[in-house]
Amino acid sequence: MNDPARTARSEDPAGPVAAWRRLADGAVLLDGFHALKHAVRFGAEVPVAIAADRGAALALAGELAPDVREALAALLTEVPEGTYAALVPRPHPTGVAALAVRPSRAGSLAKLAHTPRTAPVVVLDNPRNLGNAGAVIRLAAGFGATGVVTTGTLDPWHPTVVRGGAGLHFATAVERLTVEELPPGPVFALDPEGEDIRSLRLPDDALLAFGSERSGLSPELRARADHLVALPMRPQVSSYNLATSVAMTLYHWSATGGAPA
Ligand SMILES: C[S@@+](CC[C@H](N)C(=O)[O-])C[C@H]1O[C@@H](n2cnc3c(N)ncnc32)[C@H](O)[C@@H]1O
Repeated sequence: MNDPARTARSEDPAGPVAAWRRLADGAVLLDGFHALKHAVRFGAEVPVAIAADRGAALALAGELAPDVREALAALLTEVPEGTYAALVPRPHPTGVAALAVRPSRAGSLAKLAHTPRTAPVVVLDNPRNLGNAGAVIRLAAGFGATGVVTTGTLDPWHPTVVRGGAGLHFATAVERLTVEELPPGPVFALDPEGEDIRSLRLPDDALLAFGSERSGLSPELRARADHLVALPMRPQVSSYNLATSVAMTLYHWSATGGAPA
């Protein structure tokens, strides 16, 4: 109890709860310790962060993320377990949750359009599965991709996508656009009928486009494509999962010249 941050915050448990209720609608939910850790590492603005056991959360930080322990100590307020559980859709095993400010669309669009580009933009053409979209954002963050653009109706900032992305939406530019609005750059569209990826070098300014889980690349995206690229696949296998296709393609980019940041 001699931690001043903890004492000051514990004395006013209504503070974070009121802030949470006020901000929850327009904010990005960071669900669990790892999502908060990643978001803080990549510069997210976090106006409120709560823990059912602040000491346990900071011990986890000391063990797994000492680089952000101090920042988390300044952010995290302890609330009773029941209060925490009432504020989140589903309690996380780490008992940690936070709200972050979504980066401005204008800022993300500027990052996506900036040239010369030093790492590709991943385009998901009308993706349907929220978990796939989250996994792709995590991959893009890991490989230092410029960003992830989705076309179609799926919201790439949907809470389930953010959960799948483990807080890494803040490490890359994430936006929804139409095919006509895609940023400049040669489009390498992934399709089993394309040219074998092993014979190609993917340039840093590429848009790497992937089709929908249901129906593959749309006619609009095909019309915009400069190259169709195939991942090696044995006959009789129809296709790979969307996120694993992105993983193989980003790996190929990194292994043939591009490099994770
Ligand atoms: C699950 S697949 C789509 C399957 C869909 N039923 C179809 O008709 O194409 C999702 C996306 O992953 C990429 N993909 C999957 N397997 C691939 C392969 N062997 N070569 C190139 N791209 C592939 C493509 O971009 C594809 O549109």
